[in-house]
Amino acid sequence: MNDQKHIIIFDTTLRDGEQSPGASMNQAEKLRIATQLELLGVDVIEAGFPAASDGDFEAVKKIAESLKKAQVAALCRANEADIRRGWDAVKDAVNPRIHTFIATSELHMKYKLQMEPADVLKKAVESVKLAASFTSNVEFSAEDGSRSDPDFLCTVFESVIDAGATTINLPDTVGYAVPEEFGKLVAYVIENTANIDQAVLSVHCHNDLGLATANTLAAIQNGARQVEVTINGLGERAGNTSMEEVVMSLKTRPNFFTHTTNIDTTRIYPTSRLVSMITGILIQPNRAIVGANAFAHEAGIHQDGVLKNPMTYEIMKPETVGISKNNLVLGKHSGRHALAAHVRSMGYDLSDEEINIVFQKFKNLADRKKQILDEDIEALINEGVLRT
Ligand code: KIV
Ligand code: ZN
Repeated sequence: MNDQKHIIIFDTTLRDGEQSPGASMNQAEKLRIATQLELLGVDVIEAGFPAASDGDFEAVKKIAESLKKAQVAALCRANEADIRRGWDAVKDAVNPRIHTFIATSELHMKYKLQMEPADVLKKAVESVKLAASFTSNVEFSAEDGSRSDPDFLCTVFESVIDAGATTINLPDTVGYAVPEEFGKLVAYVIENTANIDQAVLSVHCHNDLGLATANTLAAIQNGARQVEVTINGLGERAGNTSMEEVVMSLKTRPNFFTHTTNIDTTRIYPTSRLVSMITGILIQPNRAIVGANAFAHEAGIHQDGVLKNPMTYEIMKPETVGISKNNLVLGKHSGRHALAAHVRSMGYDLSDEEINIVFQKFKNLADRKKQILDEDIEALINEGVLRT
């Protein structure tokens, strides 16, 4: 059904990412990030959970109406009210998706849902049927899938595909899986779900043991074709699989992975900065790909090696992820082009109109302040563009 080598990138920064403590965003902030995710080349943007609040409903609706290319997904529990509300929020998108879920593990069914497995199966099928009556783009997730009985999981997947699900998602909801085991589970699901070729198999991993990226890569190696990720690995508890780690692993190790994505990797760093600035969640300096130290070399031997040939200690070029070095000093004599180049080197993708706003503010500040620091520029961007 889908290209075996192409990996669909499903970004849930605006839904699971927003569930990070302290990361909640208003409508304008969510739209700003969604627009950037579309530029980045994300295939599916999970914009929120419309039944959770009126604010989230409005934000999802606005994103659905505004984006031009990306699929926009709304998360809905497996019940009629959530699915109707979710559909109302996304229906005007270019390609709307309803994403419905219910837990399938013994533990969740018995204690959380207090339902029998047969009733969970029935609810999953009814929900997918309802969603499929609105759109042909329906995703079903088996929450706590990695701790579910594999045969029950396959039965549920087979039934929801028959009911109209076009993507089935296997989450490692509590970040409990280890790579070899998770890869085998993906292979088992493919082997034992009779109609699997009628749907895309997706995975959604959490990082409680720091294994989300490793588990996601193991899933890809075993046949998963959609991965659910967030920028900077934001997400519930220890977070979700980080987009930048998965995408750059695929790109940096072509002798190992033959898969492609639609991500324009030169926009990774700007996107990471934008998400950090809007959510207020700082990026740890030693974070892979996007941390301040990811391309910094302290040891003399390393510096010497990098000067002779960067590949001695750099496995990817900083420019590949959108990090460029720029030594332009900004002051009152600097022009619009210098400011635009500097802003870009700091990791921000601003439109011409936004640069004009920041430039005006910059000129006013430069009259009062001799040297303009990156912190000043960030404050101007924040006040002039992101908070408007
Ligand atoms: O972690 C999880 O199981 C989820 C589902 C709703 C996909 O976020
Ligand atoms: Zn999750």
